[in-house]
Amino acid sequence: MRITLGVTGGVAAYKAAELVRRLQQKGDSVQVVMTRSAREFVTPLTFAALSGQRVITDLFSDSSGGEPNLESAIEHIAVAQRTDLLLVAPATADIIAKFARGVADDFLTTLYLASTAPVVVAPAMNVNMWNHAATRQNVEILRARGVKIVEPDEGYLACGMTGPGRLAGLEEILAAVHEVSKAQRDLEGETILVSAGPTCEDLDPVRFIRNRSSGKMGYAVAEAAAKRGAKVILVSGPVNLETPAGVERVNVRTAEEMRHAIVQRFADASIAILAAAVADYRPAQPRAEKIKKGSAPLAVSLEPTTDILAEVAKNKGSRIVVGFAAETDHVAENARKKLASKNADLIVANDVTAEGAGFDRDTNVVTLFSRDGRDLALPKMPKSEVAQRILDEVLRMRSVLHAPAPRHSNV
Ligand code: CTP
Repeated sequence: MRITLGVTGGVAAYKAAELVRRLQQKGDSVQVVMTRSAREFVTPLTFAALSGQRVITDLFSDSSGGEPNLESAIEHIAVAQRTDLLLVAPATADIIAKFARGVADDFLTTLYLASTAPVVVAPAMNVNMWNHAATRQNVEILRARGVKIVEPDEGYLACGMTGPGRLAGLEEILAAVHEVSKAQRDLEGETILVSAGPTCEDLDPVRFIRNRSSGKMGYAVAEAAAKRGAKVILVSGPVNLETPAGVERVNVRTAEEMRHAIVQRFADASIAILAAAVADYRPAQPRAEKIKKGSAPLAVSLEPTTDILAEVAKNKGSRIVVGFAAETDHVAENARKKLASKNADLIVANDVTAEGAGFDRDTNVVTLFSRDGRDLALPKMPKSEVAQRILDEVLRMRSVLHAPAPRHSNV
């Protein structure tokens, strides 16, 4: 896991150094972000040496410590995107208040708002500050938002007082991180087959027919599923995207190659999410030599390809099968038709003409049509977020479809 560790200003800041070491021993990579007051207690160099990574201290300083530039100005977004879990230890009353109220005046507070990763907060402060109504309220706001709070220990505090406020033990903090990350890995044990991208159908050795699919939606699904613990096999048409971490990628070019790759791997999958924009037709007789220019009109005869989704879903057994529907009109009607005709459990439909939806974009606007009659219309959101919602719906579908049948009483 890629953990971002926020260190804020408190005597316990030195304990975060040991936390870095322990997380790394578990195999996690740790990016440390320090607030200004944390640097009064420990130097960034300590954390840089332990984590092997540059410590982020400012919203606008670049990696070499030079003049602010565009890269440094948007670094919080880049860090937010690569954060699997945000841990803040020790967390002061100040950072808790800022998180609760959405103040974003430094790197850590801005990162908190920009990240969708789960958050674990381990407070440490003076007993009266911890017991203050303002802090109590802020902690409750965070808790209600799903933030995991690792309650401080009772004991003798650096300020000379005794009571709750001491940073929880490292074991307790590590256990909270483990618990939160495990809850994020709800697809452990699943094998998910994903298809993505376009297919290319040859006309001759130098020309082919393809569509505008970029593969971004399918790749987002593959990445999200792998992060949630699934074994992911991604059958990909030709795209310009990097293979997501932990994903096994099988490259194909034509609809027939994609069909072959998917049919071969379907039996081992528990879930199939077929997001590829497969060609519906291919040239009936691709030429062995390059087609020469002439003055007469050229007609190319096309023959239908096999519908891969319909073919595999015919005998899907207990597998959950998800298809996509790219539509330009009558979205709901067409999507429901595809759901039935292809024997799918879920159709992710999008109107490719809608603003913020469609090809080669980072956002999408989709409606999820499920077999149990539910229509879930999602607002415009990043494809990474759409991917999470699709996976949530897949799990919901499975619990609905595979719920034990209600028992009938004989009385
Ligand atoms: N699909 C497939 N094999 C094909 C064509 C489509 O597996 N030869 C799958 C796609 O991966 C997608 C779903 O079917 O999950 C719907 O694709 P779409 O292009 O929207 O629909 P089509 O069935 O091709 O129908 P039409 O183009 O007429 O809308």
